[in-house]
Amino acid sequence: MKILAFETSCDDTCVAVVENGTRVLANIRQAQGEHNQYHGVVPEIAARLHAEHWRGVLDQALKEADLKIEDIDAIAVTQGPGLQTSLLNGTTAASFLSLLYQKPLIPVHHIHGHLCSVFLEREISEIQYPCLTLTVSGGHTSFYRCESPTQITQIGQTLDDAAGEAFDKTAKMLGLDYPGGPIVSKLAEEGDDQAYKLPLIVMAKASLDFSFSGLKAAVYRIVHDENFKKTPSEIKNLCASFQSITAKTFQKKLQRALDQYPDTAQVHFVGGVSANTRIREALDVVARAHCDAPLQVPIDMSYCTDNAAMIASAAYFNYQENPACAKTQFIDADSRLKI
Ligand code: KG4
Ligand code: ZN
Repeated sequence: MKILAFETSCDDTCVAVVENGTRVLANIRQAQGEHNQYHGVVPEIAARLHAEHWRGVLDQALKEADLKIEDIDAIAVTQGPGLQTSLLNGTTAASFLSLLYQKPLIPVHHIHGHLCSVFLEREISEIQYPCLTLTVSGGHTSFYRCESPTQITQIGQTLDDAAGEAFDKTAKMLGLDYPGGPIVSKLAEEGDDQAYKLPLIVMAKASLDFSFSGLKAAVYRIVHDENFKKTPSEIKNLCASFQSITAKTFQKKLQRALDQYPDTAQVHFVGGVSANTRIREALDVVARAHCDAPLQVPIDMSYCTDNAAMIASAAYFNYQENPACAKTQFIDADSRLKI
């Protein structure tokens, strides 16, 4: 089953074609560098650029897959959550194509897409259940217990900032570019991760929720202390200290979750922040010790950050389980869609 998918929940215009939930025939992402100067996504600019880009990105995806829309079995789209005006671009394009070409139309929850990103370019049997999945990006930080690709229960979430947002804001305070995650992690490699003492915030004993605002405030206090010198070496030290405490936070939370769900067969780490090597290493140690299996992350960095291939994969599993999930009419964007 070949699924054409659209993902426009934030600032990237993404179109992909994926066969049977795993085989990526095309995965095109047009980024919007226009937001970098504002250190964050400006919704009006994002919506306008999606409207300008989607047709070209669609053509590129079909060309790369060497297919015509007539050859596609179904169309999928991120229904939410995300920026309403950005989502509307994708749902409108997908609904229009589905009506025009009479194809089933499958709505997908953005996070469900991230959860399925581990299937891309893998054998389905490599992914085992029950699993625990950490979904960490600029917009979300949450924990899920999954019994199958479609049976998902949220067991924790951030109560304030997302971890990627904390990376982005730390970068901004240090005068670095946006998005901050890749830059902070690169500078951290040459820094001393013990140079600054930052708080390890793990919440009440049994809690699987996260909080990153205290860590962000601690970075703010250091940067604005009159003794702090914004030299390249101190910037590297602060980046290293920040990255290390973030990795420790995830490590502690994963251990706590595994204690609560001892039958876990695998641990998955997805979303933009899963591109971070240090955090991967920290989680891998805990996952191996408990499950006797390595941490599973998307096979390619391009499947960690937002992409449409993961949306096609989630749509495939939804459709396999329940073909009635496909719509025959316009899909409404829903910026606060619940999983
Ligand atoms: O999944 P994604 O593309 O978009 C959202 O849904 O937010 O994630 C983007 C986020 C940004 O906050 C970015 O700074 C972060 O992922 N990120 C990283 C790394 N690469 C991207 N954070 C830490 N280390 C990285 N290597
Ligand atoms: Zn995302």
